[in-house]
Amino acid sequence: MEKIGYYNRKPMPLEMHKVCIVQKAELLPVEERVKAIRKAGFNSYRMESADIYLDMLTDSGVNAMTNEQLGAMMLGDDCYAGSRTYFRLADKIKEIFNKDYFLPVHQGRACEHMLALAYVQPKPGSIVPMNFQFGTSVGKIKYCGGDYVICLREEGLETASSDPFKGDFDLVKLEGILREQAENVAFVRIEAGTNLIGGQPISLDNMLAVSELCKKYGVLSVLDASLLQDNLHFIKTRENAYQNKSIREIVRALSDAVDIIYFSARKLGFGRGGAIILNDEKEFEHIKTFVASFEGYPTFGGMSVKEMEAIRVGLDDTMDERIICQGPQFIEYLANELEDAGVPVVTPPGGLGCHLDAEKFVPHIPHSKYPAGSLASAIYISSGARGMERGAIDEPWEEDGVAPYGAMELVRLAVPRRVYTVSQLNYLIDRVCWLYDNRELIEGLQFSTKGPHNFYDALEPVSDWPERLAAKFRKDFGDSL
Ligand SMILES: Cc1ncc(COP(=O)(O)O)c(C=O)c1O
Repeated sequence: MEKIGYYNRKPMPLEMHKVCIVQKAELLPVEERVKAIRKAGFNSYRMESADIYLDMLTDSGVNAMTNEQLGAMMLGDDCYAGSRTYFRLADKIKEIFNKDYFLPVHQGRACEHMLALAYVQPKPGSIVPMNFQFGTSVGKIKYCGGDYVICLREEGLETASSDPFKGDFDLVKLEGILREQAENVAFVRIEAGTNLIGGQPISLDNMLAVSELCKKYGVLSVLDASLLQDNLHFIKTRENAYQNKSIREIVRALSDAVDIIYFSARKLGFGRGGAIILNDEKEFEHIKTFVASFEGYPTFGGMSVKEMEAIRVGLDDTMDERIICQGPQFIEYLANELEDAGVPVVTPPGGLGCHLDAEKFVPHIPHSKYPAGSLASAIYISSGARGMERGAIDEPWEEDGVAPYGAMELVRLAVPRRVYTVSQLNYLIDRVCWLYDNRELIEGLQFSTKGPHNFYDALEPVSDWPERLAAKFRKDFGDSL
């Protein structure tokens, strides 16, 4: 991989693109930011985009497209069945993944729906072992009468670590499950770029070992490749055995080893859609019937043909090391600068975003007052950046109606690909460092509404701390926004 050296400046990531189209962004004054987060019930999902300066909620469907993708969109062949667009995308998928069959669906969770209908629903009570859970995946598995078992190595949950592959399976645990109850396993789900533990990668060796175990016990292996892009970069840079392999060779080795691949093209492919890819004709015909019933005719599956053309071009970019290194390098820069200033971040930096460890950032806030949710609100007040709470608020209510406790209390500052510049990251770093120095002003939150899932609920601060935080900001920054 090419490296960029600097003469007398601290190394920083360098964009390998130039900007053709821009969208105006507005930064509200701090007092207005307090009003905006209050109106949103201190839940960043409920905010309005117009109130946000840096939208770092997610990398899903918000990555900047290239002029080549936008141009390709005009080739979209809008026809109900047998569209040329479908065959062009199928050819690209065959070229990259070397699998014969491809089914388009409208986004990643639709892939998960189709697979749960095909493999979980016919086996009530079956289980799906996985390195870690993801909300949309386990939601569909449970909806179809199954359950999931987490097989992550214990090290995966350590927030401060130097382990390069925290997303790896505990192979002993997985083999134990397969040995004892293979007939009860619907499939094994391998999640690349493990989202909920901080976008942490899984090594190629570990994925190959999982697929070997699946073959040994006659169980299907399914790769969730939604976050494969960053994971490929980490295999190439952190896994010695593959440093001389090209990205395409790495993808090919992985793809040849697993039975089914699916992905959210809101992440992989820089577009908006989803894909299920496999080799077995009988299984393809089986899943196709679900796609036709729930998504759309199987040559578009609910996707716009324009997006399908853009994904075809975006997938080629995903195979280009100079392009896929940019996301992880931006995240690494953000994480390293914050860590150097003493701010507790998840290490090593992963893909998808920089994750702050809220339990260490605001240790004075008890679990019951939502440290990660409080920190996400405080970051918005301090900077106008919207992050995502990745802790208890993101978990469903316990059955007894008690507010849940998350396995981790993180705030994710996602870095959508090619969207923000280094100067915007530097601004954010400055504001987060200020907040860390004033962290004792942040107090907790409590729920003020209670719906079926707290994801959509409103919270309120336990005191007037947001106003006091804004007043301190005004004192320190004068008339700055
Ligand atoms: C690992 C993983 N799998 C599946 C999904 C679901 O994809 P979508 O949001 O397109 O439904 C996501 C989305 O964030 C994801 O990160």
